[in-house]
Amino acid sequence: MSISPFLRLKEIAPQEQPKSDEDFSVAWQSPANIAIIKYWGKKYGQLPASPSLSMTLDQAVTETHVNVFTKKRVKGIMAINGDPDHLFLPKMQRLYDWMAADLPVLNSISLSVSTRNTFPHSTGIASSASGISAFALCLLSIAGKIMSAEPSMDEFLHMASGCARIGSGSACRSMYGGFAVWGRSGCIEEAADEYATPVTGHIHPAMYSMRDAILVISADPKILSSTLGHESMQGHPFFSGRIGQSNKNLEEALQAMSANDFEKLSAVAECEALTLHALIMSANPGSLLMKPATVEVIHRVREARNKGIPLFFTLDAGANVHVMYPDASAAIVENFIRDVLQPLCEDNRVIFDRCGKGPVNITSIPGL
Ligand code: PMV
Repeated sequence: MSISPFLRLKEIAPQEQPKSDEDFSVAWQSPANIAIIKYWGKKYGQLPASPSLSMTLDQAVTETHVNVFTKKRVKGIMAINGDPDHLFLPKMQRLYDWMAADLPVLNSISLSVSTRNTFPHSTGIASSASGISAFALCLLSIAGKIMSAEPSMDEFLHMASGCARIGSGSACRSMYGGFAVWGRSGCIEEAADEYATPVTGHIHPAMYSMRDAILVISADPKILSSTLGHESMQGHPFFSGRIGQSNKNLEEALQAMSANDFEKLSAVAECEALTLHALIMSANPGSLLMKPATVEVIHRVREARNKGIPLFFTLDAGANVHVMYPDASAAIVENFIRDVLQPLCEDNRVIFDRCGKGPVNITSIPGL
């Protein structure tokens, strides 16, 4: 029998009975993250086929407010931003149903969700990671409030990470500032398939100020949903090879990050980005998500690195490019981005971001 992920909440509030029938609201701000080691392909139960490692972003965030009604007849999620057919509703509903099955207090309420991103959705910038993590944090806050349970912040984030995974795998890594790992791996003992873990001990302090310029090559919605992308790994001719490669790349990335070896990290991260796209291209059916400008940026980034500018690129499952560089080299890299890369972007759009600190509870911040 599997153990409830909410065991701690139930221990604190064993009755699981609503303690109040007042309407209330909760709100969280949660960041996107960029994977350095990519999650692509899953096992049964929304568990990853291989481990992934990401950097949490600072500026690319979602802010989600949830109004909770305790006496309305229609239960569950009524609408997102007033839209009962919102694009994210199926993922959010899946997460809500999964939590409500274990936390019945959630079955007695109605939710109205309002959410906004600081960046365009479905453009290869992981809006599902920030959107779903913000919603998971809100749902867990709601359950805790109704049950009058107040777990510690560590316990809360641990549970929220396990929940977020059900809506969108990469969302579970957004619960922690800095760097997070998700998926069992021989090189990080505490890493698990069911939730993400912060990777504190393995990282050189300089890494926590890493910069990420997100180059918006196309703001069009993605042509491949991650659900279909993960599914395409079932029966993929390179699937077993990919599992071995990602474990080895994780080990190398962690070595590079603990030694502040930017060159080594660049090689591993670019290998991961190109492997992700190679897997997508060689699936059946295959997709080509890069645009000509994506490829142009990759060449320009490599030329600049060969000339001694410390930077590397990485990609999500889309056309946009993340260019990562150390804080200490921000001036030289950003001049290069403005002169050479920015003109290749749609409407010259670049989002300058950096390593962030993780989610913020904004429930009680007036005016938000
Ligand atoms: O979290 P999902 O199901 O949207 O999958 C995300 C997959 C990648 O963004 C391509 C890689 C990753 O690890 O974030």
